[in-house]
Amino acid sequence: MAQTYDRFARFYDRAFTPLERFYLASLRQGVLAELPVEGHILEIGAGTGVNFKLYPEGSHAVASEISMQMIAIAKDKTNRIDIVQADAQELPFPANRFDAAFATLVFCSVPDPVRGLSEIRRVLKPGGLLLLIEHVRPDGALGYAFDAISRLTVALADDHFDRRTAENVRAAGFENVIVEKRLGGVLNVIRSRKDGAGSG
Ligand SMILES: C[S@@+](CC[C@H](N)C(=O)[O-])C[C@H]1O[C@@H](n2cnc3c(N)ncnc32)[C@H](O)[C@@H]1O
Repeated sequence: MAQTYDRFARFYDRAFTPLERFYLASLRQGVLAELPVEGHILEIGAGTGVNFKLYPEGSHAVASEISMQMIAIAKDKTNRIDIVQADAQELPFPANRFDAAFATLVFCSVPDPVRGLSEIRRVLKPGGLLLLIEHVRPDGALGYAFDAISRLTVALADDHFDRRTAENVRAAGFENVIVEKRLGGVLNVIRSRKDGAGSG
């Protein structure tokens, strides 16, 4: 996984520019505005640091990421955010540490997403907020097309187009999971809280 994104790191920002302009940048902005303005915040799979400008100013933020090449690029985008190399499936943080944790376009790549989401649940404080923006397997006939596409994207880029991420969030122990479908259900905004009190 780290090796895949080590290879993509140099091209990542440029490759995503059209999608950011078309849709993603405003979605990121709207969703990440829900992060608490103070407190401890954790990003999982921060990549090249695309979300850094949207971190609340008063927060103490930690960005985690598995790929050293992605981290090298992210480092140029901040001097206030701690960046830590970490696998989402084995987070190097104590339990009950963060007021909020978020990830954007990450759980399509994590090999064992339930394990990664369970790790997030472990490090969140009781009542802590989980926010995800993820591409997922859509419902209906399109879902079968995504199952087929996924075989190719996994082979090429370890990117699973058939992920049922909301189900994985529930399987990780989050109880009240709120799913907002975007782009015909291809993108999901997923919100929950560690104690099961959903938000949004
Ligand atoms: C599609 S990129 C998204 C990057 C960024 N979150 C964004 O929205 O632009 C997926 C990121 O997840 C990271 N990633 C994949 N598997 C991971 C894992 N097991 N633990 C932590 N990060 C991981 C990749 O290295 C990559 O930076």
